[in-house]
Amino acid sequence: MARILTGIQSSGVPHLGNLLGAIIPAIELSKDPKNESLFFIADMHSLTTVRDANLLKENTYATAAAWLAFGFNTDNNLFYRQSDIPEVCELMWYLNCISPYPMLANAHSFKDKASKLHNVNAGLFTYPVLMAADILLYDAELVPVGKDQKQHLEMTRDIAGAFNHTYGETLIEPESHIDERVMIIPGTDGQKMSKSYNNFINIFLPDKKLRKQIMGIQTDSTQMEDPKETTNCNVFRLYKLLASDEQTAEMETNYKGGNYGYGHAKQALYELIIDKYTTERTRFNELMDSKELIEKELQKGAEKARIIARGVLDRVRTKMGY
Ligand code: ADP
Ligand code: TRP
Repeated sequence: MARILTGIQSSGVPHLGNLLGAIIPAIELSKDPKNESLFFIADMHSLTTVRDANLLKENTYATAAAWLAFGFNTDNNLFYRQSDIPEVCELMWYLNCISPYPMLANAHSFKDKASKLHNVNAGLFTYPVLMAADILLYDAELVPVGKDQKQHLEMTRDIAGAFNHTYGETLIEPESHIDERVMIIPGTDGQKMSKSYNNFINIFLPDKKLRKQIMGIQTDSTQMEDPKETTNCNVFRLYKLLASDEQTAEMETNYKGGNYGYGHAKQALYELIIDKYTTERTRFNELMDSKELIEKELQKGAEKARIIARGVLDRVRTKMGY
């Protein structure tokens, strides 16, 4: 049995890229009865960039609602909010004191953010130590993440190794699980779909607003009557990711045949999303309308998570002489 753990920041409503690239594959992994999954909402990491308390809260609920709407089983696994288990901050302090300054100063995600942001806070600098604490506090063995998180995982292993070297075997050095094949979902402009590029599709929007986002997908200026290329078409690329082989083949034929405009293709994509995700969209909106249900799930998860966290923290404190 492997204990799998991963976190997702609550910096917005999860978009189609987050769902297809992270949430759905993680839920699939959690269905293997040999695994125990701990998925959490990294709302303390979000604090490095989000300043609005209400927005932070709302985004946390939206992120939780997306996991629940897509069927994450919270009875067999653990689903919790990072800030509900403040023990993570205590562990972070211990880890801060054994993390070499140059390691943090050289982290590319820090250098990248520091060069772009107006205000560089200390939280951005120690972000990887909080992430290490997230992982080590729960004795996680496997951490599925995107390629961009690879260096953070290496730091977690280094920090655990340094702790064990100093105090004797205490913390589990986790393996990362980076699926190199995980596709990058394109946004409405063809670049990687991302909250920061404002090119995302939010499938949870009401029908009309969702349709508007889809109608905004950028296409070339090939006329309605003319045959069209599928390879670089943003509409087709998204359609193919969601459609069955038959549906994809049908759209390909329409593109090649002419008299099929991008408006038709966008309408087909819109209908496909509505059809494919009927249950999840309804469930998401029901949950967002009764946040006490989300809260109940998160509290249930926090109770289970706290027991593991306290056990590990006791082990750490004893080793450190407290
Ligand atoms: P964003 O770029 O929208 O801020 P995050 O960096 O918060 O997204 O990513 C959250 C998770 O979703 C990560 O595991 C990331 O790998 C995945 N993800 C984000 N955008 C995409 C995308 N366009 N395609 C595939 N996976 C994505
Ligand atoms: N830093 C991760 C991201 O931006 C989110 C995260 C926080 C995380 N703590 C974690 C991921 C622990 C895996 C394990 O995507």
